[in-house]
Amino acid sequence: MRFNGFLKISWVLIAWLALGLAGCEGDDGSDGATGPAGQDGADGADGADGADGQDLTAVITIGDGSALTEEEIEELGKLQAVITGVTVASPPVVDFTVTDANGNPAQGIASGYVWFTFAKLVPNTDPDVNGGLPYWQSYVNRSEDVADNANGRGSDVLDLAVQATTDSRFSGGSHVEVAPGQYQYTFGTDVANVTSPIAVAWEPNLTHRVGLEIRLDGEGEVPLAPDNPVFDFVPDGGAGSGITKDILDTDKCNGCHYEFAFHGGPRKTMEYCVTCHNPGTVDQDSGENLDMAAMLHSVHMGEDRAGAVPYIIWGFSDFSHDYSEVTYPQSKTYCETCHTASAAAPDGDNWNAAATAKTCGGCHADGLLAANFDAVTGQAEYQFDHAVSDVPALGPADDGLCNDCHLGNINTAGDALSIHSSIAGDDRARAEAGDNFVFSILGATNVGPGLIPTVRILVTDPDGVAYDILNDPEFDSVVVTRTVWFSVRVRTTTCRYRPSRL
Ligand code: HEC
Ligand code: HEC
Ligand code: HEC
Ligand code: HEC
Ligand code: HEC
Repeated sequence: MRFNGFLKISWVLIAWLALGLAGCEGDDGSDGATGPAGQDGADGADGADGADGQDLTAVITIGDGSALTEEEIEELGKLQAVITGVTVASPPVVDFTVTDANGNPAQGIASGYVWFTFAKLVPNTDPDVNGGLPYWQSYVNRSEDVADNANGRGSDVLDLAVQATTDSRFSGGSHVEVAPGQYQYTFGTDVANVTSPIAVAWEPNLTHRVGLEIRLDGEGEVPLAPDNPVFDFVPDGGAGSGITKDILDTDKCNGCHYEFAFHGGPRKTMEYCVTCHNPGTVDQDSGENLDMAAMLHSVHMGEDRAGAVPYIIWGFSDFSHDYSEVTYPQSKTYCETCHTASAAAPDGDNWNAAATAKTCGGCHADGLLAANFDAVTGQAEYQFDHAVSDVPALGPADDGLCNDCHLGNINTAGDALSIHSSIAGDDRARAEAGDNFVFSILGATNVGPGLIPTVRILVTDPDGVAYDILNDPEFDSVVVTRTVWFSVRVRTTTCRYRPSRL
């Protein structure tokens, strides 16, 4: 194998090592699988639990979580919540059940500690709105203004912006427990009459989504918080929006992240995130639109955006979240790492046919133009400026027109897949042409708590020949970076919760 003087190889190797924590008490991992069966109701739980010899006599009352002991938190485990029905009698009424990790009813959750979102799926085709793509719009909103940074933080690009939020005890919502582990929540927000901070038209003929999070006090907040269930329905019982927008399966994210615990812990699933992170939510400080596509592309572009257009969100209480150091462990041209259609994400292939200024501009931030910010909502008009491209004469393109050129192989620009899989010198194109070194993990030993793993890897050159990276002088050359990254995924049983970070 020859190297020319400009060749720079960055070796990125991700190894998923599942390290079981043998030190955890009770090896109950496999019993968890019987949990869902217990959902049938309070009386169904006994059979399943008899087998693991747990003490069923003591019912743990969850309350607001603050009085739970460490043992009780461990025994309850990660809760499971299911929304079983929604009726909209102006303020919506939501039926939901909560079980513990063993499938027993999770009892006594204090009113006010379960928070809800409520959004409609707008089958938009107006090119001036969200680039012509359908979008979620929340009925529950608040506004952020300059007064928010009296604490001296924030940058106030905008005077005012609207943000989706939850319905909770702070907006007059409350629940009752109608049977052990079965609850009924009544919203504080009258969704049929939303006028503040912006009017949101009640459109019962569209597809709607209700989601929830359980946000307890005390040590149980993160480990007990269930995956956020959502419930899609059409209030007037008709056909709904005529489209769906299930683009991304949380499992795709968890391939790297293991498990999310955002916004303090209880926000974990993509289908829940998007009820707030849609085009209606804007960061007043930075002026960034917090739609999931624009935000997530920007976050993972991290260090590559840092120089020209760093991505900084001034979050709750205006704390700065600067993503300039996010180092993505793969070429970003592998869109399919996040985007692939599946049963959980039937619209997972949309990405290749949904170019808009914001979706592409999250990564290609140097060309993203935002202007004419609305003084109340913070919404902007977006364009993509081709001054940064190989065809600068194209200049700024209006949002909504991108697919004229970036769909299929029209007009030489090509669609996202053909573009991103054929960029000369990019890791993806090299790999697909068989021009890359190939790394395989042969095995790992010495894995477990307190141990330092040993991982055996095989490196083959583009001809498929095993390569000695330790003794080849070419690899000591200054033009070659030799970085081998190992991401270690740690699997625990029930004794500790995991941070969201890698
Ligand atoms: C190929 C691996 C990979 C995939 C897939 C991935 N991420 Fe990340 N993500 C990272 C890395 C690496 C970081 C930087 C880690 C850090 O700073 O803690 C990161 C950071 C983040 C951050 C900012 C850090 C924080 O804690 O606030 C968010 C938010 C995030 N990812 C969400 C997602 C979501 C949602 C998905 C799925 C749509 C996803 N990620 C898919 C690797 C990945
Ligand atoms: C109930 C609404 C809501 C839900 C649900 C929600 N977010 Fe947010 N999120 C917001 C708002 C509003 C902001 C901006 C706050 C600001 O600018 O003051 C935000 C900001 C963020 C930020 C920027 C940093 C920060 O913490 O402010 C990240 C990253 C983020 N959200 C990720 C997620 C992910 C991932 C999910 C789902 C697992 C999620 N959010 C679910 C409303 C929500
Ligand atoms: C780290 C994860 C991640 C990667 C990698 C990624 N995306 Fe995305 N993408 C997202 C998220 C999250 C959304 C928003 C999903 C939602 O709204 O439900 C999104 C949405 C989109 C959309 C909008 C789809 C629609 O119908 O609204 C497009 C277009 C898109 N991505 C293009 C791309 C392209 C092109 C690439 C590769 C060059 C890419 N994405 C790589 C996370 C990712
Ligand atoms: C997840 C991040 C990401 C998203 C989203 C994304 N791109 Fe890219 N794109 C890249 C990277 C990385 C490259 C490699 C060259 C570079 O760094 O500019 C690239 C390269 C390109 C190129 C080739 C430019 C060149 O210099 O060779 C075009 C054209 C392009 N993208 C168009 C798009 C369009 C259109 C969209 C929206 C559908 C999009 N991209 C969305 C990351 C992204
Ligand atoms: C009239 C046709 C046309 C329209 C409309 C158009 N583009 Fe392009 N775009 C191109 C061509 C041609 C290139 C150069 C392709 C290449 O370098 O491979 C390009 C390049 C790009 C790139 C790569 C930029 C870089 O850094 O090299 C991005 C991102 C992009 N376009 C996004 C968009 C978005 C977003 C829209 C809509 C707001 C849009 N384009 C509308 C034709 C168009």
